[in-house]
Amino acid sequence: MNLGGAIKINKCAVIVLVAILLFIFYVFTATSIDRTYPKKHDKVNLRKLVIGLILAAKSGGNQVIKISNEPDFGGIKTKGKTLEGVNDYVTKADVNSHCSIAYSLWRIFPKLNLISEEDVQKKNCPDDIENFDLDPSVLGNVELPDINVKTEDLTLFIDPLDATKEFTEKLFQYVSVMICVADKKGEPIIGVIYFPFSKRLYWAWKGHGVSENLINVKADLEDGVQNPIAIVSMSHAGAVKDLVRSMLGEKVSIIQAAGSGYKIIQVLEGNATIYLHNTRIKKWDLCAGNAIVDSVKGRMATLKREKISYTANSNYVVEDGLLVEINKNVMN
Ligand SMILES: *[C@@H]1O[C@H](CO)[C@@H](O)[C@H](O)[C@H]1NC(C)=O
Repeated sequence: MNLGGAIKINKCAVIVLVAILLFIFYVFTATSIDRTYPKKHDKVNLRKLVIGLILAAKSGGNQVIKISNEPDFGGIKTKGKTLEGVNDYVTKADVNSHCSIAYSLWRIFPKLNLISEEDVQKKNCPDDIENFDLDPSVLGNVELPDINVKTEDLTLFIDPLDATKEFTEKLFQYVSVMICVADKKGEPIIGVIYFPFSKRLYWAWKGHGVSENLINVKADLEDGVQNPIAIVSMSHAGAVKDLVRSMLGEKVSIIQAAGSGYKIIQVLEGNATIYLHNTRIKKWDLCAGNAIVDSVKGRMATLKREKISYTANSNYVVEDGLLVEINKNVMN
């Protein structure tokens, strides 16, 4: 009886002791886990990021398609005029595409530094942002390595809807969604260009892999081009046509098109020899294409033959025009 009581007390003491020990163990391991992995998102696996960017570009494109079916595209606004006097439009499709890209990426990679043509608070975003998982099947048969880099060394440039003006005119073939990653030095290393209306997708991770539709694009350094085809902007074609003829001679054919993403892809697909532009252009219009052109060893530069730098703190405007070619023998 007495003995039983003593055992009872001891049992209680043991339980309390074990509880205290467990608590100390918990506190210790919790803080030591914190010490070992201080900030979970300080590093990014670039293979996973490529997968994320492809899925984000598609989710942005899905928003663009959805709004293309709404009357007046959910309301067309102008952000003013460009220096060349062309209206700078924004629609609900630009906004919703940005939302979908930015917030779906931040869900998985919360510390990514994003620079986008649009800047939208979450409360102004639609409710139907896609929360995707990183499904590697979007890479097709392309194998990519697992490489981890510091998140803070990356800057993403996003154009949630390139060719907004043409979108409002239902010239949907020119519309693309572009996402790009630049490294610490400002070099574009990953680019994704997605055409939501034709569902064509192009991507490249410089030095590691390109989408299957780009595998056969080769920079031809041997042969000159007999009949060059230049692709230029539709919106201010006059001056650029003169420039093209002065650079490539009278025999040059000229195609007019919209969307820098579209024009870059026309050069990559061999439908144009060179893309020339002579007015200001924003870096989110160029970064993804630049990563892809570099990956297939083509050339993308200003008309002064200077590389474009995509650092986080840079000026986001390229003032000196643009030249894109795969065959570097078209001009010097
Ligand atoms: C390139 O031109 C061909 C022939 O006109 C066309 O079928 C193809 O769709 C074009 N490529 C792209 C990317 O528009």
